[in-house]
Amino acid sequence: MPIAVGDRLPAATFKTMTAEGVKELSTADVFAGKKVVLFAVPGAFTPTCSRSHLPGYLANRDAILAKGVDTIAVTAVNDVFVMDAWSKANDADGKILFLADGAAAFATAVGLTLDLTAAGMGVRSQRWSMLVDDGVVKEVNFEEKPGVADLTGGACMLGHL
Ligand code: BEZ
Repeated sequence: MPIAVGDRLPAATFKTMTAEGVKELSTADVFAGKKVVLFAVPGAFTPTCSRSHLPGYLANRDAILAKGVDTIAVTAVNDVFVMDAWSKANDADGKILFLADGAAAFATAVGLTLDLTAAGMGVRSQRWSMLVDDGVVKEVNFEEKPGVADLTGGACMLGHL
């Protein structure tokens, strides 16, 4: 069953790239005591994710943070090196926290996987956005149509804060 408003995020471990190299971050590291906007994409560098979803959060970042959000993070079922390359290609280092969920453990734990085997991409994450306060889901948004990042986008999230 997919995670819903009022649920606590399950324990999971992400990988992220730092100046010192690859680092593991637990859900507690990312979410405990913080207000976090987290969005998930089916894949780094895929068209909608790169042209619309990530840029929308970069464009609205300052306004989202001004609403009291501590961290904006993105997760995808990609390895940490791909996520790091995607961050650098979009000048997003230090602006958005890139959380690699390489083996889909987090996407599976929250019940939000997407089977893109037919597209040659294997099991990925659905496209969604969440507002998480101290580890508890306060809002979750899904897209109604493939190939768009509107309801889960940065402008829409800002409007809800
Ligand atoms: C896209 O972001 O456009 C996309 C995502 C998954 C599969 C194909 C395209």
